[in-house]
Amino acid sequence: MSGLPRLADGQLAHAVLATPSVGEAYRQQEIWDLKTRLAYDVAGRIRERYETEIAPAYASAHGSAPTSRHVIGELMAEDPATQMWSALRRSGQEQMWDLVAQSTARQLARLTDTAGALLGSAGSLSLDATVQVPAYLQTVDIHCMPTGYYRETAPDDLTAGALYDRGVYIYAAGQLGAANDDKGRSVIEHYLDVRYPDLAPAAILDMGCSVGHSTLPYVERYPGAEVHAIDVAAPMLRYAHARAASFGLPVHFSQRDAEATGFAAGSFDLVVSHILLHETSTKAVQNILAESFRLLKPGGLMIHAEYPPFTTMDPFAQFLVEWDTTNNNEPFWSTVRTLDLEAMAVRAGFEPGKVSRELIPTGRRLVTGQSSAGRIGLIVARR
Ligand SMILES: C[S@@+](CC[C@H](N)C(=O)[O-])C[C@H]1O[C@@H](n2cnc3c(N)ncnc32)[C@H](O)[C@@H]1O
Repeated sequence: MSGLPRLADGQLAHAVLATPSVGEAYRQQEIWDLKTRLAYDVAGRIRERYETEIAPAYASAHGSAPTSRHVIGELMAEDPATQMWSALRRSGQEQMWDLVAQSTARQLARLTDTAGALLGSAGSLSLDATVQVPAYLQTVDIHCMPTGYYRETAPDDLTAGALYDRGVYIYAAGQLGAANDDKGRSVIEHYLDVRYPDLAPAAILDMGCSVGHSTLPYVERYPGAEVHAIDVAAPMLRYAHARAASFGLPVHFSQRDAEATGFAAGSFDLVVSHILLHETSTKAVQNILAESFRLLKPGGLMIHAEYPPFTTMDPFAQFLVEWDTTNNNEPFWSTVRTLDLEAMAVRAGFEPGKVSRELIPTGRRLVTGQSSAGRIGLIVARR
Protein backbone atom coordinates (compact mmCIF):
# COMPACT_ATOMS: atom_id res chain seq x y z
CA MET A 1 0.00 0.00 0.00
CA SER A 2 2.99 2.28 0.46
CA GLY A 3 3.15 3.47 -3.17
CA LEU A 4 -0.52 4.46 -3.35
CA PRO A 5 -1.66 8.09 -3.59
CA ARG A 6 -2.35 10.15 -0.47
CA LEU A 7 -4.59 13.07 0.35
CA ALA A 8 -2.84 16.37 1.13
CA ASP A 9 -3.08 15.55 4.86
CA GLY A 10 -1.42 12.17 4.32
CA GLN A 11 -4.35 9.73 4.43
CA LEU A 12 -4.03 6.88 1.98
CA ALA A 13 -6.47 7.52 -0.85
CA HIS A 14 -8.44 4.50 -2.02
CA ALA A 15 -11.52 3.85 -4.11
CA VAL A 16 -14.13 4.25 -1.35
CA LEU A 17 -12.55 7.06 0.67
CA ALA A 18 -14.82 10.12 1.01
CA THR A 19 -12.24 12.44 -0.50
CA PRO A 20 -12.74 16.04 0.63
CA SER A 21 -13.15 18.87 -1.87
CA VAL A 22 -10.73 21.80 -1.47
CA GLY A 23 -13.21 23.66 0.76
CA GLU A 24 -14.05 20.55 2.80
CA ALA A 25 -10.35 19.78 3.25
CA TYR A 26 -9.75 23.30 4.54
CA ARG A 27 -12.52 23.03 7.14
CA GLN A 28 -11.47 19.51 8.13
CA GLN A 29 -7.92 20.81 8.65
CA GLU A 30 -9.21 23.56 10.93
CA ILE A 31 -10.90 20.98 13.14
CA TRP A 32 -7.78 18.81 13.06
CA ASP A 33 -5.74 21.80 14.29
CA LEU A 34 -8.28 22.66 17.00
CA LYS A 35 -8.46 19.09 18.28
CA THR A 36 -4.67 18.69 18.26
CA ARG A 37 -4.19 21.92 20.21
CA LEU A 38 -6.77 20.86 22.76
CA ALA A 39 -5.36 17.37 23.15
CA TYR A 40 -1.75 18.46 23.58
CA ASP A 41 -1.06 22.13 24.30
CA VAL A 42 -4.21 22.98 26.23
CA ALA A 43 -4.40 19.66 28.10
CA GLY A 44 -0.75 20.21 29.04
CA ARG A 45 -1.57 23.70 30.37
CA ILE A 46 -4.49 22.33 32.34
CA ARG A 47 -2.25 19.72 33.92
CA GLU A 48 0.23 22.46 34.81
CA ARG A 49 -2.57 24.47 36.41
CA TYR A 50 -3.70 21.41 38.35
CA GLU A 51 -0.20 20.62 39.58
CA THR A 52 0.80 24.17 40.51
CA GLU A 53 -2.49 25.57 41.86
CA ILE A 54 -5.40 23.17 42.24
CA ALA A 55 -3.67 20.12 43.76
CA PRO A 56 -1.59 22.22 46.21
CA ALA A 57 -4.73 24.07 47.35
CA TYR A 58 -6.49 20.74 47.90
CA ALA A 59 -3.43 19.36 49.71
CA SER A 60 -3.28 22.29 52.10
CA ALA A 61 -6.95 21.74 52.99
CA HIS A 62 -6.86 17.92 53.14
CA GLY A 63 -3.29 17.02 53.96
CA SER A 64 -2.40 15.46 50.60
CA ALA A 65 -3.08 15.82 46.86
CA PRO A 66 -6.00 13.79 45.46
CA THR A 67 -5.27 10.25 44.38
CA SER A 68 -8.64 9.56 42.80
CA ARG A 69 -9.64 10.59 39.29
CA HIS A 70 -13.16 11.17 40.61
CA VAL A 71 -11.99 13.77 43.14
CA ILE A 72 -9.81 15.42 40.49
CA GLY A 73 -12.84 15.47 38.20
CA GLU A 74 -14.91 17.27 40.83
CA LEU A 75 -12.15 19.85 41.37
CA MET A 76 -11.55 20.44 37.68
CA ALA A 77 -15.28 20.79 36.97
CA GLU A 78 -15.09 24.07 38.92
CA ASP A 79 -12.12 25.36 36.92
CA PRO A 80 -13.10 27.85 34.16
CA ALA A 81 -10.16 26.92 31.89
CA THR A 82 -11.10 23.24 32.13
CA GLN A 83 -14.73 24.06 31.42
CA MET A 84 -13.72 25.93 28.26
CA TRP A 85 -11.36 23.13 27.20
CA SER A 86 -14.08 20.54 27.71
CA ALA A 87 -16.73 22.53 25.82
CA LEU A 88 -14.37 23.09 22.88
CA ARG A 89 -13.41 19.41 22.78
CA ARG A 90 -17.03 18.32 22.63
CA SER A 91 -17.92 20.92 20.06
CA GLY A 92 -14.83 20.04 17.99
CA GLN A 93 -15.85 16.38 18.03
CA GLU A 94 -19.37 17.19 16.84
CA GLN A 95 -18.08 19.55 14.15
CA MET A 96 -15.63 16.94 12.90
CA TRP A 97 -18.40 14.40 12.35
CA ASP A 98 -20.66 17.03 10.76
CA LEU A 99 -17.98 17.98 8.25
CA VAL A 100 -17.14 14.38 7.38
CA ALA A 101 -20.85 13.52 7.15
CA GLN A 102 -21.48 16.37 4.67
CA SER A 103 -18.54 15.32 2.53
CA THR A 104 -19.64 11.65 2.65
CA ALA A 105 -23.26 12.45 1.77
CA ARG A 106 -22.10 14.41 -1.29
CA GLN A 107 -20.18 11.36 -2.56
CA LEU A 108 -22.40 8.55 -1.32
CA ALA A 109 -23.72 7.42 -4.71
CA ARG A 110 -20.18 7.09 -6.09
CA LEU A 111 -18.94 5.25 -3.00
CA THR A 112 -21.89 2.83 -3.06
CA ASP A 113 -21.43 2.10 -6.78
CA THR A 114 -17.70 1.58 -6.33
CA ALA A 115 -18.26 -0.81 -3.42
CA GLY A 116 -20.81 -2.72 -5.52
CA ALA A 117 -18.32 -3.05 -8.38
CA LEU A 118 -15.60 -4.32 -6.03
CA LEU A 119 -17.83 -7.02 -4.48
CA GLY A 120 -16.09 -10.37 -4.55
CA SER A 121 -13.02 -9.06 -6.42
CA ALA A 122 -10.84 -10.05 -3.46
CA GLY A 123 -11.94 -11.98 -0.37
CA SER A 124 -15.66 -12.02 0.39
CA LEU A 125 -18.51 -10.24 2.16
CA SER A 126 -21.20 -12.12 4.01
CA LEU A 127 -23.97 -10.15 5.73
CA ASP A 128 -26.58 -11.60 8.05
CA ALA A 129 -29.55 -9.39 8.90
CA THR A 130 -30.50 -11.69 11.79
CA VAL A 131 -27.41 -10.65 13.77
CA GLN A 132 -28.56 -8.47 16.67
CA VAL A 133 -26.67 -5.26 17.33
CA PRO A 134 -25.90 -5.45 21.08
CA ALA A 135 -27.56 -2.90 23.38
CA TYR A 136 -24.17 -1.44 24.32
CA LEU A 137 -23.78 -0.20 20.74
CA GLN A 138 -27.31 1.16 20.53
CA THR A 139 -27.62 3.09 23.79
CA VAL A 140 -25.59 6.06 22.57
CA ASP A 141 -24.00 7.16 19.30
CA ILE A 142 -20.50 6.00 20.22
CA HIS A 143 -17.94 8.82 20.22
CA CYS A 144 -20.70 11.10 18.91
CA MET A 145 -20.62 9.48 15.46
CA PRO A 146 -24.03 10.42 14.06
CA THR A 147 -24.73 7.00 12.53
CA GLY A 148 -23.34 5.01 15.44
CA TYR A 149 -21.43 2.03 14.06
CA TYR A 150 -24.42 0.26 12.66
CA ARG A 151 -27.26 2.50 11.46
CA GLU A 152 -28.30 2.27 7.81
CA THR A 153 -30.57 4.68 6.00
CA ALA A 154 -30.26 3.54 2.39
CA PRO A 155 -29.91 0.25 0.51
CA ASP A 156 -26.33 -1.09 0.68
CA ASP A 157 -25.47 1.81 2.97
CA LEU A 158 -21.81 2.20 3.86
CA THR A 159 -22.04 5.69 5.32
CA ALA A 160 -20.99 4.65 8.83
CA GLY A 161 -17.85 3.00 7.42
CA ALA A 162 -16.97 6.03 5.33
CA LEU A 163 -17.48 8.34 8.32
CA TYR A 164 -15.35 6.15 10.53
CA ASP A 165 -12.44 5.88 8.08
CA ARG A 166 -12.12 9.60 7.42
CA GLY A 167 -13.23 10.69 10.92
CA VAL A 168 -10.71 8.47 12.72
CA TYR A 169 -7.90 9.85 10.56
CA ILE A 170 -8.80 13.43 11.52
CA TYR A 171 -9.55 12.47 15.14
CA ALA A 172 -6.10 10.87 15.49
CA ALA A 173 -4.46 13.72 13.57
CA GLY A 174 -2.91 11.17 11.24
CA GLN A 175 -1.03 9.45 14.04
CA LEU A 176 -2.52 6.04 13.30
CA GLY A 177 -0.65 6.14 10.00
CA ALA A 178 -1.72 6.73 6.41
CA ALA A 179 -3.97 3.65 6.52
CA ASN A 180 -5.17 4.14 10.14
CA ASP A 181 -3.59 0.76 10.80
CA ASP A 182 -1.29 1.51 13.70
CA LYS A 183 -2.97 -0.90 16.15
CA GLY A 184 -2.63 -3.95 13.92
CA ARG A 185 0.89 -2.98 12.90
CA SER A 186 1.94 -2.42 16.50
CA VAL A 187 0.70 -5.84 17.65
CA ILE A 188 2.60 -7.49 14.82
CA GLU A 189 5.76 -5.39 15.08
CA HIS A 190 6.09 -5.06 18.85
CA TYR A 191 4.58 -8.34 20.02
CA LEU A 192 4.17 -11.10 17.44
CA ASP A 193 7.42 -10.49 15.56
CA VAL A 194 9.30 -10.23 18.85
CA ARG A 195 7.78 -13.17 20.77
CA TYR A 196 6.64 -15.40 17.90
CA PRO A 197 8.89 -14.55 14.94
CA ASP A 198 8.22 -17.93 13.31
CA LEU A 199 4.44 -17.87 13.70
CA ALA A 200 2.77 -19.09 10.52
CA PRO A 201 -0.97 -19.08 11.20
CA ALA A 202 -3.19 -20.85 8.66
CA ALA A 203 -6.35 -19.08 9.83
CA ILE A 204 -6.70 -15.69 11.55
CA LEU A 205 -9.78 -14.01 12.98
CA ASP A 206 -10.01 -10.26 13.68
CA MET A 207 -13.00 -9.48 15.92
CA GLY A 208 -14.75 -6.09 15.83
CA CYS A 209 -12.84 -5.18 12.69
CA SER A 210 -14.93 -2.08 11.83
CA VAL A 211 -13.54 -1.00 8.42
CA GLY A 212 -10.58 -3.38 8.58
CA HIS A 213 -7.90 -0.85 9.54
CA SER A 214 -6.07 -3.33 11.76
CA THR A 215 -7.02 -6.41 9.74
CA LEU A 216 -4.99 -5.61 6.64
CA PRO A 217 -1.55 -5.66 8.32
CA TYR A 218 -2.20 -9.36 9.13
CA VAL A 219 -2.95 -10.11 5.48
CA GLU A 220 0.31 -8.47 4.48
CA ARG A 221 2.40 -10.05 7.26
CA TYR A 222 0.96 -13.59 6.92
CA PRO A 223 0.28 -14.03 3.19
CA GLY A 224 -0.28 -17.77 3.65
CA ALA A 225 -3.15 -17.30 6.10
CA GLU A 226 -6.88 -17.23 5.44
CA VAL A 227 -7.94 -14.02 7.17
CA HIS A 228 -11.46 -13.58 8.53
CA ALA A 229 -12.78 -10.36 10.03
CA ILE A 230 -16.11 -9.90 11.78
CA ASP A 231 -18.26 -7.05 13.01
CA VAL A 232 -21.92 -6.73 14.00
CA ALA A 233 -22.31 -3.60 11.86
CA ALA A 234 -23.21 -4.15 8.20
CA PRO A 235 -22.22 -0.64 6.97
CA MET A 236 -18.74 -1.12 8.46
CA LEU A 237 -18.36 -4.46 6.71
CA ARG A 238 -19.56 -3.24 3.30
CA TYR A 239 -17.00 -0.46 3.47
CA ALA A 240 -14.29 -2.74 4.90
CA HIS A 241 -14.68 -5.23 2.07
CA ALA A 242 -14.58 -2.54 -0.61
CA ARG A 243 -11.57 -0.87 0.99
CA ALA A 244 -9.60 -4.14 1.29
CA ALA A 245 -10.61 -5.18 -2.24
CA SER A 246 -9.49 -1.82 -3.62
CA PHE A 247 -6.00 -2.68 -2.29
CA GLY A 248 -6.35 -6.18 -3.75
CA LEU A 249 -6.12 -7.71 -0.26
CA PRO A 250 -8.27 -10.82 0.35
CA VAL A 251 -10.22 -10.81 3.63
CA HIS A 252 -13.38 -12.76 4.41
CA PHE A 253 -15.63 -10.23 6.12
CA SER A 254 -18.76 -11.50 7.83
CA GLN A 255 -21.45 -10.05 10.04
CA ARG A 256 -21.20 -11.86 13.35
CA ASP A 257 -21.25 -11.14 17.05
CA ALA A 258 -17.84 -11.61 18.69
CA GLU A 259 -19.62 -12.93 21.80
CA ALA A 260 -20.99 -15.89 19.83
CA THR A 261 -19.57 -16.01 16.32
CA GLY A 262 -21.07 -19.19 14.96
CA PHE A 263 -17.70 -20.39 13.61
CA ALA A 264 -16.87 -24.02 14.44
CA ALA A 265 -14.77 -24.64 17.56
CA GLY A 266 -11.03 -24.82 16.87
CA SER A 267 -11.21 -22.88 13.60
CA PHE A 268 -8.33 -20.42 14.14
CA ASP A 269 -4.62 -20.28 14.98
CA LEU A 270 -4.73 -16.61 15.88
CA VAL A 271 -7.68 -14.62 17.25
CA VAL A 272 -7.13 -10.87 17.62
CA SER A 273 -9.04 -7.69 18.28
CA HIS A 274 -8.00 -4.06 18.41
CA ILE A 275 -9.81 -1.50 20.55
CA LEU A 276 -12.96 -3.62 20.46
CA LEU A 277 -13.30 -4.32 24.17
CA HIS A 278 -13.90 -0.71 25.28
CA GLU A 279 -16.97 -0.53 23.04
CA THR A 280 -18.67 -3.43 24.84
CA SER A 281 -19.51 -4.32 28.48
CA THR A 282 -18.02 -6.42 31.28
CA LYS A 283 -20.32 -9.32 30.46
CA ALA A 284 -19.48 -9.04 26.76
CA VAL A 285 -15.72 -8.98 27.45
CA GLN A 286 -16.12 -12.24 29.41
CA ASN A 287 -18.11 -13.75 26.54
CA ILE A 288 -15.55 -12.57 23.95
CA LEU A 289 -12.70 -14.16 25.90
CA ALA A 290 -14.68 -17.42 26.20
CA GLU A 291 -15.49 -17.34 22.49
CA SER A 292 -11.80 -16.73 21.66
CA PHE A 293 -10.89 -19.79 23.76
CA ARG A 294 -13.50 -21.90 21.96
CA LEU A 295 -12.36 -20.76 18.51
CA LEU A 296 -8.66 -21.44 18.97
CA LYS A 297 -6.95 -24.62 17.83
CA PRO A 298 -4.72 -26.26 20.47
CA GLY A 299 -1.60 -24.06 20.74
CA GLY A 300 -3.46 -21.14 19.13
CA LEU A 301 -2.95 -17.58 20.30
CA MET A 302 -5.43 -14.92 21.46
CA ILE A 303 -4.46 -11.24 21.54
CA HIS A 304 -6.91 -8.47 22.39
CA ALA A 305 -5.34 -5.00 22.13
CA GLU A 306 -6.98 -2.33 24.23
CA TYR A 307 -6.11 1.08 25.70
CA PRO A 308 -3.84 0.69 28.73
CA PRO A 309 -5.28 0.06 32.22
CA PHE A 310 -5.55 2.89 34.75
CA THR A 311 -2.74 1.29 36.77
CA THR A 312 -0.28 2.44 34.10
CA MET A 313 -1.04 6.16 34.52
CA ASP A 314 -1.14 8.82 37.20
CA PRO A 315 -4.48 10.07 38.61
CA PHE A 316 -4.50 13.25 36.52
CA ALA A 317 -4.01 11.24 33.32
CA GLN A 318 -6.88 9.01 34.50
CA PHE A 319 -9.02 12.12 34.85
CA LEU A 320 -8.15 13.12 31.26
CA VAL A 321 -9.08 9.63 30.05
CA GLU A 322 -12.39 9.87 31.84
CA TRP A 323 -13.32 12.89 29.73
CA ASP A 324 -14.37 10.57 26.91
CA THR A 325 -16.56 8.51 29.21
CA THR A 326 -18.57 11.48 30.39
CA ASN A 327 -18.39 13.76 27.35
CA ASN A 328 -17.81 11.68 24.23
CA ASN A 329 -20.44 8.93 24.44
CA GLU A 330 -17.99 6.20 25.45
CA PRO A 331 -19.82 4.57 28.37
CA PHE A 332 -17.37 1.68 28.90
CA TRP A 333 -14.17 3.67 28.20
CA SER A 334 -13.14 3.94 31.87
CA THR A 335 -14.52 0.65 33.21
CA VAL A 336 -12.60 -1.45 30.69
CA ARG A 337 -9.38 -0.04 32.16
CA THR A 338 -10.27 -1.42 35.59
CA LEU A 339 -10.97 -5.02 34.54
CA ASP A 340 -8.78 -7.88 35.69
CA LEU A 341 -8.46 -9.28 32.19
CA GLU A 342 -6.03 -12.02 33.25
CA ALA A 343 -8.52 -13.42 35.76
CA MET A 344 -11.28 -13.11 33.18
CA ALA A 345 -9.19 -15.02 30.60
CA VAL A 346 -8.68 -17.80 33.14
CA ARG A 347 -12.43 -17.88 33.83
CA ALA A 348 -12.87 -18.14 30.05
CA GLY A 349 -10.93 -21.42 30.07
CA PHE A 350 -7.26 -20.51 29.54
CA GLU A 351 -4.66 -22.02 31.90
CA PRO A 352 -3.25 -19.38 34.30
CA GLY A 353 0.36 -19.99 33.17
CA LYS A 354 -0.62 -19.31 29.58
CA VAL A 355 -2.15 -15.88 30.13
CA SER A 356 -0.30 -12.56 30.30
CA ARG A 357 -0.88 -8.86 30.14
CA GLU A 358 1.51 -6.79 28.08
CA LEU A 359 2.08 -3.14 27.35
CA ILE A 360 3.62 -2.49 23.95
CA PRO A 361 4.60 0.70 22.16
CA THR A 362 2.36 1.98 19.43
CA GLY A 363 4.27 3.13 16.40
CA ARG A 364 3.09 6.68 16.90
CA ARG A 365 1.78 8.71 19.81
CA LEU A 366 -1.85 8.23 20.69
CA VAL A 367 -3.93 11.35 20.50
CA THR A 368 -4.80 11.84 24.11
CA GLY A 369 -1.85 13.80 25.49
CA GLN A 370 -1.91 11.47 28.51
CA SER A 371 0.95 9.64 30.18
CA SER A 372 -0.17 6.38 28.57
CA ALA A 373 0.26 7.92 25.12
CA GLY A 374 2.32 5.75 22.82
CA ARG A 375 1.40 2.47 24.49
CA ILE A 376 -1.32 -0.10 24.02
CA GLY A 377 -2.28 -2.90 26.39
CA LEU A 378 -2.65 -6.54 25.38
CA ILE A 379 -4.35 -9.48 26.98
CA VAL A 380 -2.60 -12.51 25.52
CA ALA A 381 -3.35 -16.19 26.04
CA ARG A 382 -2.27 -19.44 24.46
CA ARG A 383 -4.75 -22.34 24.11
C1 LIG B 1 -13.32 0.93 17.79
S1 LIG B 1 -14.00 -0.04 16.56
C2 LIG B 1 -12.73 -1.22 16.19
C3 LIG B 1 -11.61 -0.70 15.40
C4 LIG B 1 -10.83 -1.70 14.61
N1 LIG B 1 -10.70 -2.98 15.24
C5 LIG B 1 -9.47 -1.12 14.32
O1 LIG B 1 -8.49 -1.59 14.86
O2 LIG B 1 -9.42 -0.17 13.56
C6 LIG B 1 -15.11 -1.15 17.41
C7 LIG B 1 -15.88 -2.05 16.45
O3 LIG B 1 -16.35 -3.15 17.19
C8 LIG B 1 -17.62 -3.51 16.71
N2 LIG B 1 -18.27 -4.32 17.74
C9 LIG B 1 -18.66 -3.94 18.98
N3 LIG B 1 -19.18 -4.98 19.63
C10 LIG B 1 -19.11 -6.04 18.83
C11 LIG B 1 -19.46 -7.41 18.95
N4 LIG B 1 -20.03 -7.90 20.04
N5 LIG B 1 -19.23 -8.23 17.91
C12 LIG B 1 -18.65 -7.77 16.77
N6 LIG B 1 -18.31 -6.48 16.60
C13 LIG B 1 -18.51 -5.64 17.61
C14 LIG B 1 -18.28 -2.18 16.39
O4 LIG B 1 -19.36 -2.34 15.51
C15 LIG B 1 -17.11 -1.40 15.82
O5 LIG B 1 -17.05 -1.52 14.43
